[in-house]
Amino acid sequence: MKIALTGIKPTGTPHLGNYLGMIRPALNLARDYEAYYFIADYHAMTTVKDGAELRALSYDVAAVWLALGLDPARVTLYRQSDIPEVTELTWILACITPKGLMNRAHAYKASVDENRERDRDPDAGVNMGLFNYPILMAADILLPAANVVPVGADQRQHLEMTQDMAEAFNATYGPILTVPEAIIPDDVATIVGLDGRKMSKSYGNVIPIFDDPKQLRKTVMRIVTDSRPPDEPKNPEEDTIYQLYRHVAPPEAASSMAERYLAGGLGYGTAKGELYEALESTFGPARERYQEIVGDRAEIDRILAGGADRVRARAVPLLEKIRDAVGVCPLPAR
Ligand code: ADP
Ligand code: TRP
Repeated sequence: MKIALTGIKPTGTPHLGNYLGMIRPALNLARDYEAYYFIADYHAMTTVKDGAELRALSYDVAAVWLALGLDPARVTLYRQSDIPEVTELTWILACITPKGLMNRAHAYKASVDENRERDRDPDAGVNMGLFNYPILMAADILLPAANVVPVGADQRQHLEMTQDMAEAFNATYGPILTVPEAIIPDDVATIVGLDGRKMSKSYGNVIPIFDDPKQLRKTVMRIVTDSRPPDEPKNPEEDTIYQLYRHVAPPEAASSMAERYLAGGLGYGTAKGELYEALESTFGPARERYQEIVGDRAEIDRILAGGADRVRARAVPLLEKIRDAVGVCPLPAR
């Protein structure tokens, strides 16, 4: 069976963009693929500098996957830092990766551009973890030899870089690494946030999926709209409320909202109320499971340890092959 693999950084509690863009497609994919889903705690270290916070956020992300229906007997759920072989492969890949390729990475370039705009040193505030981020991500993907990687559109460049690194490695040392493909479903590639821009923790415009109902309603009410009155016909394609609603409501309810917008008579307040209800029925039951699971760290540890064993069983033999090909010594016995 082919391998699907994806990761999520524990940098905050998962939001609707993560869920629609990546988590839900990944859970669906797990029916047809052997799935490896992990918590990218080393990646989160580029921004989270508090150990207790990183640990808590990692448990949180694990609990979210489990509450949303990930079955740990069928899907291998693990923590990146349980697989030290990944950081080792990061070094090996770094040695065949041109620095110029990393200079073009979106996240790094965005920091440099912002620094230039503010007349600061171009690399001010940039740590080497941020610069090397795409190489660590390539190692995550290449070590378990993933075939497909379900992600949102913002990860497309990282996947292209991973392909470049795998091809460069294979050209130098022989056909050892599997070249993966991104899976980015068109209709959920970029989910919009409260302000109409891409929903992202870094923009502060997210709808956290497991907030309590009162907070969830408040957040939905903050969605930015124009000031047109209810009677005026509106284009649902340009409306943030509908753009979210269509992914969480039953299809007939979604077409009904679109029709009422187009006909005139549907006001933003009413539409927000309907979105809130749809979110509540999508996430309410899972929220209860989440609250039970997140408090049971021993159980999460047990699941993650099982996942780590399974993924290391794939990673270690491949790393042995890689060590042999590049000419360093075999792995020391563990
Ligand atoms: P954030 O941008 O909020 O920091 P992450 O980088 O942790 O989110 O993203 C985790 C996964 O969720 C990635 O696969 C990413 O592409 C996907 N994702 C994040 N935000 C969105 C969005 N607005 N639309 C679609 N997918 C998204
Ligand atoms: N970079 C991804 C993000 O920001 C998270 C990630 C780390 C990842 N390693 C990965 C995603 C490997 C897919 C495969 O969302």
